[in-house]
Amino acid sequence: MTIFRKHLKNKRIIITGHTGFKGSWLTLWCVLSGAKVIGISDYLTSSPSHFKRLQLHKKMKNIKLDIKNLPKLKKIFVKNRPDYVFHLAAQSLVKKSFEKPVETFMSNTLGTMNILESLSLLKTRCHAVIITSDKSYKNLEIERGYTENDLLGGDDPYSASKGAAELIINSYYKSVLRFKKNLSVTVARAGNVIGGGDWSDDRVVPDCVKSWSKNKSVQIRNPNSTRPWQHVLEVIRGYIQCGIQSKKYKETINGEAFNFGPRINQNKTVIQLVKEMKTHWKKVKWKIKKDKTKKKEYKLLKLNSLKSKKVLSWEPVLTFKDSVKLTTLWYKEYYSKKIDCFSLSSKQLFFYEKKLMKHFRNKKIKV
Ligand SMILES: NC(=O)c1ccc[n+]([C@@H]2O[C@H](COP(=O)([O-])OP(=O)(O)OC[C@H]3O[C@@H](n4cnc5c(N)ncnc54)[C@H](O)[C@@H]3O)[C@@H](O)[C@H]2O)c1
Repeated sequence: MTIFRKHLKNKRIIITGHTGFKGSWLTLWCVLSGAKVIGISDYLTSSPSHFKRLQLHKKMKNIKLDIKNLPKLKKIFVKNRPDYVFHLAAQSLVKKSFEKPVETFMSNTLGTMNILESLSLLKTRCHAVIITSDKSYKNLEIERGYTENDLLGGDDPYSASKGAAELIINSYYKSVLRFKKNLSVTVARAGNVIGGGDWSDDRVVPDCVKSWSKNKSVQIRNPNSTRPWQHVLEVIRGYIQCGIQSKKYKETINGEAFNFGPRINQNKTVIQLVKEMKTHWKKVKWKIKKDKTKKKEYKLLKLNSLKSKKVLSWEPVLTFKDSVKLTTLWYKEYYSKKIDCFSLSSKQLFFYEKKLMKHFRNKKIKV
């Protein structure tokens, strides 16, 4: 039994990007909550793949489709009449966006446009949560955290594509979707997510565990960059709460954007994260790699999540240390091969839910 079962049981949920890192955790949570999940993705993003290892394709409808294909996307939406849509599909890597800017812009902007257009065809009630990024904000390297009304922007192709997606969502919502009584649309912005099951290229945690599991030294880029690290389950819970609350309080939540960041004093540097991981993995080595690409990576990125706390009763329950511990232990257990991936991820999910229940009880929050 999961905490969201009473809201999600038998609900039809479309998740785009379900084979990715976050998407696979969201799919797992929804499947364990008794939902009927329809996943739309065009490929497995990493090898190994968390989605594949979980064997989730046996517990849901698994559709291989590029979201740039509007006619097919529309048909899937109309046929499946979803109660909820979580749109996560995107080219999600900053480094790859320099190599493949066209693909990045096409998937992240046109793809998002196609999701909105497909939503507009629905005649039944549906609540959509569109996932963008903390990188949608114009990065001014300011000390205070970004709030939802701050300026959008983005210099590198990935950030610009997410900023551009936001403009599309805002425009399409104001000109089309807000007139549809059966629909609600919200935007979710989160920061750098860590957790088990991520094997993407050029992300610090996967880089570390891929090398350390072979007793090799890892190369660390930008050791002093500060990022809003947070555990994947915190963010996924935010997306689910956003969807559920939209159903309850459509008038106040429809068309709004929400930040989901760690506690404001929990932003840490890349090297602090690596050192914290070391406390759980023990014998590990790293080397600092000089970035020769001369491509600017911003140093500071903070999110202010007070609006999510006020409106959605969402706030982080894990500290930085908790999040790193949960993440590192997931990989240690995975590489020990003593437990299958589904049991491992479900075990961590239920552990997290226990912490959450305690938090809800203390704060007198009703689930
Ligand atoms: N992981 C992070 O730290 C982070 C931080 C901020 C925002 N985000 C955003 O969250 C979402 C999920 O991130 P993730 O880390 O799980 O990404 P991921 O790269 O692991 O997964 C991306 C998913 O999108 C699918 N996809 C990509 N292009 C597609 C297309 N054209 N058509 C159909 N499917 C397509 C892939 O198949 C995969 O399922 C993305 O929108 C990403 O931009 C991620």
